Amino acid sequence: MVQAFLLPLFILQTPTFRVIMICLVLGTRPEIIKLSPLIRECGRLEVPYFILHTGQHYSYEMDRVFFEDLELPVPQFNLDAGSGLHGAQTGKILAGAERVFLEHRPDAVLVQGDTNTVLAGALAACKLHVPVCHVEAGLRSFDRRMPEEINRIVADHVSDLLFAPTETAAGHLRREGIPGEKIFVTGNTVVDAVYQNLEIARKKTGVMDRVGTKEGEFILVTAHRAENVDERGRLAGILEGLVAVGVETGMPVIFPVHPRTAKMIREFGLDARGIRIVPPLGYLEFLLLESKAALILTDSGGIQEEACVLGVPCVTLRENTERPETLEVGSNVLAGTNPTTILESAREMRSRDRRWENPYGDGRAGRRIVEVLVGKGLIA
Ligand code: UD1
Ligand code: UDP
Repeated sequence: MVQAFLLPLFILQTPTFRVIMICLVLGTRPEIIKLSPLIRECGRLEVPYFILHTGQHYSYEMDRVFFEDLELPVPQFNLDAGSGLHGAQTGKILAGAERVFLEHRPDAVLVQGDTNTVLAGALAACKLHVPVCHVEAGLRSFDRRMPEEINRIVADHVSDLLFAPTETAAGHLRREGIPGEKIFVTGNTVVDAVYQNLEIARKKTGVMDRVGTKEGEFILVTAHRAENVDERGRLAGILEGLVAVGVETGMPVIFPVHPRTAKMIREFGLDARGIRIVPPLGYLEFLLLESKAALILTDSGGIQEEACVLGVPCVTLRENTERPETLEVGSNVLAGTNPTTILESAREMRSRDRRWENPYGDGRAGRRIVEVLVGKGLIA
């Protein structure tokens, strides 16, 4: 179902100035968080825009809670795509986005990251010759078994403006033959979001009591990558490793669990005793826990970055990462899903000096991106 609340757009289209309309496409938890600085910036500068929510994430704690926490406007459109196999989910978003773009004719479409929402949003726009702007362009894990790697590569190659968070990401794009004049190194909007929200998050101390932890005395975990949690052996390895880390450190292991992972733990009948599994948290509460954790173990992309920005050591439960900057500065280490390697990596990261550099920018990526869009005449 397409919901339309178009009044504010019409109001902006006064005849006194030329309005150029931008469409921000989002659909999942990390996209809402990482696009929030751009949405705020568009609001601050009174840039005409509308939000197309694909509905890829739809549960309250994977979707609405972030609009509430970040005080974001309700999206003008929601495609209600929901969950499904890659083809079905991507196809629904592709067809729905095409309908919205045809009817409302945005002058540019902006996507962020590497989800199916990004792939379908970018494809729909480019086939209609609407300029595509890709935020967080150029990330590469060089692992084509990850659906995200395919999504990133396709989105980058159909994009007209590519906002790379770091020089490393920009280098990948140049090496793949994307012309330099399309690429802008801006920093990652994840830093903007952390800086804009950390003070507010610090007041959310109730979550510490709720999950039963004290500052600096707990291990924080997330895991949701399909290649980890949809495979029994890998998911069991992660759980075993987590229990071992909890036992050795004597600290509680707090695991706000993604619905995909919750479902697979149930389906495989795995034993999660020794791990405090809690429902997924809102951004502010989660940010507070991240900032107070002794150590973070994760397979999330965004959380590798946030841990690095917050000065909290991270163990990545994967064999590769598209965030090599975190390995280079020393904030992160790759452990995979073998329990012994997870335990050894946790030991190593707990003894690391935390004074690494933040490679993801100064918290003004959103502003830079909007400046480029204005400079290119894509927004007035
Ligand atoms: C998606 C992205 C992934 C991103 C992640 C962020 C793709 C291919 N994957 O993975 O890159 O890191 O979002 O969290 O785009 N579910 C719910 N409620 C929801 C959403 C999902 O219960 O609101 C459950 C459903 O059982 C669903 C499963 O989670 O089948 C997976 O959801 P899906 O959007 O397909 O992939 P994610 O694992 O969330
Ligand atoms: N996050 C959250 N609550 C949680 C777990 C994660 O708010 O319970 C936030 C986290 O701070 C980060 C983002 O969700 O900004 C990461 O999303 P996810 O790990 O789902 O996706 P990825 O970054 O791997 O694509």
